[in-house]
Amino acid sequence: MTRLIRYAVAQPQQALLHTRDTHLIAQLLQQAGIAFEQWPLRPLPADADSAAVLSAYQAEIERLQAANGYRSADVVRLRPDHPDRASLRQKFLDEHTHSDDEVRFFAEGSGAFYLHLGDEVLQLLCEAGDLISVPAGTKHWFDMGPQPLFTAIRLFVSPEGWVGHFTGDPIAAAIPRLDADSPLNAA
Ligand SMILES: [Fe+2]
Repeated sequence: MTRLIRYAVAQPQQALLHTRDTHLIAQLLQQAGIAFEQWPLRPLPADADSAAVLSAYQAEIERLQAANGYRSADVVRLRPDHPDRASLRQKFLDEHTHSDDEVRFFAEGSGAFYLHLGDEVLQLLCEAGDLISVPAGTKHWFDMGPQPLFTAIRLFVSPEGWVGHFTGDPIAAAIPRLDADSPLNAA
């Protein structure tokens, strides 16, 4: 189930709020200018390729493209036995920004976004059916966990806009990660 934990940057080990209320989650994200939607899931065969995944959500993708100027879409699929899972996880664990929005729809599986907004960090566990759009310039990071399992549609204005600009802020290391002992699993 989709969950959100709010942390103060000054006290990163102590959650200020932990909620599974998707209306509250959408409200908190909206206040920060972050779009969050839940789309009805479409059945996908186990061997669905990228074209099949994109086709299943074509109407929603076209709506977002028309509204926000996204020109391309692709699909990332990761499974727990991926040989490069540790390095792929590490790649997104440090705080960064992009010059374009980072738009992800989880068609299967889950992953955690961390959004650094002023003096707080919102950790959002996205599950299948969740769409998040992190606006350009927003400080964030992403944890797919030690055994990644997700199929995500990515929308782009341009692939170059998605290059990460790393901030060097150590905050990402201070907030609990998506490991077995994550507070996300505690409630
Ligand atoms: Fe990112």
